[in-house]
Amino acid sequence: MATPALEQIQAALATVNDPEIRRPITDLGMVDSVEVDDAGVVHVTVLLTVSGCPLKDTITRDVNAAVGKVDGVTGVDLTLGVMTAEQRAGLQETLRGGQSQKEIPFSRPDSLTKVYAIASGKGGVGKSSVTVNLAVAMARQGLKVGIVDADIYGHSVPAMLGLGDVRPTQVEDMIMPVPTPITRESAGELSVISIGMLKPRRDQVVAWRGPMLDRALVQMLSDVYWGDLDALFLDLPPGTGDIAISLGQHLPNAEVVVVTTPQEAAAEVAERAGTMASMMHQRVVGVVENMSFLPCPHCGPEHRLEVFGAGGGARVAKTLSGRFGYDVPVLGEVPLDLDLREGGDTGTPIVVSSPESPSAAALTQVATTLSGRGRGLAGMQLGLTPAGRL
Ligand SMILES: Nc1ncnc2c1ncn2[C@@H]1O[C@H](COP(=O)(O)OP(=O)(O)OP(=O)(O)O)[C@@H](O)[C@H]1O
Ligand SMILES: [Mg+2]
Ligand SMILES: [Zn+2]
Repeated sequence: MATPALEQIQAALATVNDPEIRRPITDLGMVDSVEVDDAGVVHVTVLLTVSGCPLKDTITRDVNAAVGKVDGVTGVDLTLGVMTAEQRAGLQETLRGGQSQKEIPFSRPDSLTKVYAIASGKGGVGKSSVTVNLAVAMARQGLKVGIVDADIYGHSVPAMLGLGDVRPTQVEDMIMPVPTPITRESAGELSVISIGMLKPRRDQVVAWRGPMLDRALVQMLSDVYWGDLDALFLDLPPGTGDIAISLGQHLPNAEVVVVTTPQEAAAEVAERAGTMASMMHQRVVGVVENMSFLPCPHCGPEHRLEVFGAGGGARVAKTLSGRFGYDVPVLGEVPLDLDLREGGDTGTPIVVSSPESPSAAALTQVATTLSGRGRGLAGMQLGLTPAGRL
């Protein structure tokens, strides 16, 4: 039997992405050596960015699968090593692509990433649930998506995605966002960074104010290697405040999605969301009414039990439209759903666990509306195209 060609093995290795950096390991200097012996066994050494890299099982599995498929390969003998400080510095250089360190890639005029700030007038309206499900829905549509959990009081996003207490991998002073397993089957990707992951100690009570908060936000946007994202979601703390001012300074092109419940006094919510958007010089792209109604257990979803009243979303949208002088639509009405809450608690978002349910369908529809929109550049209608496939 012919020994497998080294070229084909290299090509196979080039299909393996580092799960955190999401680029081929061959581009990242991670493949240290490749040799084929006479028996057709491939001996390959892959260097991890840090020892105890939490995703070495994924790399091991992917390398074995990719190389094992090459014609004539009888076995794969994988050795995992660790990069030296010098190699890591080289990698960091590669990732930065010569950019200066503190630049926020999303605020560059040529950035193709849509940035959505999810905001609400008050807490507990389902902001984090909406953020997580919209992001997962978009990732499952094949897009590369990131979430910045900037809610200093809550930071509930990692738990809602089943990530528990994971800490991000750090390469020198660059932080890798934590990839989620949720989109494994689809072409899309979703990774997360939470302000909670940046706390020196997990149990530390965060009482961050202006400058510290600003630094944390900038860190999550510029020190984190996000790669080419199609969409970035920011889960904000409720109300207005320091973080809104920071966001306005650092991400003026972010668009605001306001989450409300049906009962909220339109004036109050609209006022707060409006103040925030004008502080941020950002556009409000629409309103999501959450906990809209309870589908009647007897008659089905046609009979809406209006547990929290009705019309809040429409009222907020109307008030904001009037205030800003452009159309602020209601993007969707998400019903109350016990499974949605449970999905949040167990770390499996409803758009994954029961995509057919009315709440998941409503959230997926909102994601589709957002991702299908143009970028708002004068005269241009660029749909959202998956990164790297432009
Ligand atoms: N449509 C829904 N049906 C049922 N439960 C929901 C729904 N939306 C959110 N919840 C639940 O309500 C609670 C609050 O939701 P969530 O944490 O998403 O709100 P939040 O606005 O981010 O809150 P906070 O202000 O504390 O950050 C959670 O337990 C969540 O699972
Ligand atoms: Mg929250
Ligand atoms: Zn009924």
